[in-house]
Parts: sequence; C-alpha cells; structure tokens
Amino acid sequence: MTKLKDVAEHYYAAQPKSEVKFGLIQTRLRGKPFEFFTASSVFSVKRVDLGTRLLVESMELPESGLVLDVGCGYGAVGIAAATFNRKLHVVLTDVNRRAVLLARQNAERNKVSNVEVRQGNLYEPVAELTFNCVLSNPPVSAGMKTVEALIRGAAAVMASKATFQMVMRSKIGKKTLPHVFVETFGNFKISAIESGYRVLTAKKQ
Ligand SMILES: C[S@@+](CC[C@H](N)C(=O)[O-])C[C@H]1O[C@@H](n2cnc3c(N)ncnc32)[C@H](O)[C@@H]1O
Repeated sequence: MTKLKDVAEHYYAAQPKSEVKFGLIQTRLRGKPFEFFTASSVFSVKRVDLGTRLLVESMELPESGLVLDVGCGYGAVGIAAATFNRKLHVVLTDVNRRAVLLARQNAERNKVSNVEVRQGNLYEPVAELTFNCVLSNPPVSAGMKTVEALIRGAAAVMASKATFQMVMRSKIGKKTLPHVFVETFGNFKISAIESGYRVLTAKKQ
C-alpha cells in the first residue's frame, strides 16, 4: 500500500532540498463524489483541471476490457473511468514518480481495485498490453513533439475498434492535430467542446 508519507520520502530521495506540499481535492465527477490527494510538482494541485473535467464528463468507455490513462497525474481520469465501470481494468501511467505514487494512493482512497499504476515514458510501461480505449489529458507543457508522439504511439497499443480520446485547449493545434489524428487513425472527430477545451477522438480501424 502506498502511503502519503512515501510520496514525500520518494520525492525527498530524488530532490532532497525541495519541500513537498500536499493538498486534497474533494469534488464530484458525473455526479459521483471523489477525493484526490495532490502534491506540489504534480499537475493541477488545487482543483480538477477544466480539461480533465471535460474529458471525464464526456469520455465514452467500453463495456469491458482494458483502458489506459496515459499521463495520469494524480489519477483523476483513470480512477473515474474505473469507478464508472467496474468491469474495466484501467492502467494509469505517468513519467513523474510523485504522480504515480499519488495515483496509487488515490485509487485506494476512492476504493477502486480495478486499476494499476505504472511509471514510465508514454507507452513504454504498457508495451505488452492491448487497450480497448486510451484516454489522455496530454502534457502540452512538455512540448507538441511529446503530444504528437503520444497520439502516434497510441495506435501500437490499441485493439481494432478501440477509441483514443484526448482533451486539449481549443486554441492549441487547431490545424495540426486533426492531421496527426487522420495520419494515425484514418479518422478524427471532436466529441465535446466546453470551457475553452475540446475532446479529440478517433477510432482504430
Ligand atoms: C496535463 S497533465 C494531466 C494529468 C492528469 N491526467 C489530469 O488530467 O489531471 C499531463 C501529465 O503527463 C505527464 N507526462 C509528461 N511527460 C510524459 C511522458 N513522456 N510520458 C508519460 N507521462 C508524461 C505529466 O507528468 C503530467 O502528469
């Protein structure tokens, strides 16, 4: 079991001079209550990000099978998916060790056992798996090359007919991202728009 103090210990082991500050977000997603521990240096410490919320509120989940939340942060998207459909097995991944430890802690806090959290770059931690759905609020701050790699790399871990659903600020990649989607999946649609964000969706043929 991951404990919050482990998050701090691991963090201090990596960067001993930095101070870790924890937070707790209490919120509702699709009408259900959730609590998420957050910590400094993890995305959106004070509240569930508006893009995250739009993805969670609009995501279409398979009836069963494997779902991936790539770039999970403290785990809101993947934990919500695992809560909304307990028949799914949801894998959450992030490059950030503190995010991974928080996501594990948050899975326990929200009483979901149909999840696992793995650390690593993009699809490297899940290269042996095949998903029925890939969800992401991608790391735009890491650069559009990383976002593009996240889109293009998804196809290799997706089953036929699996969906890829990614939230993005509406202003970002308006022209370029549809091309990357079409080149990767052969199709593209906007499945939700709200609060300056849009959800870009594709289906693997
Ligand atoms: C915009 S945040 C979204 C976090 C979370 N999904 C949410 O919506 O709250 C993007 C996440 O991607 C992670 N990330 C950045 N580069 C990555 C990479 N190369 N591979 C995997 N995750 C990465 C960051 O650590 C961060 O947690």
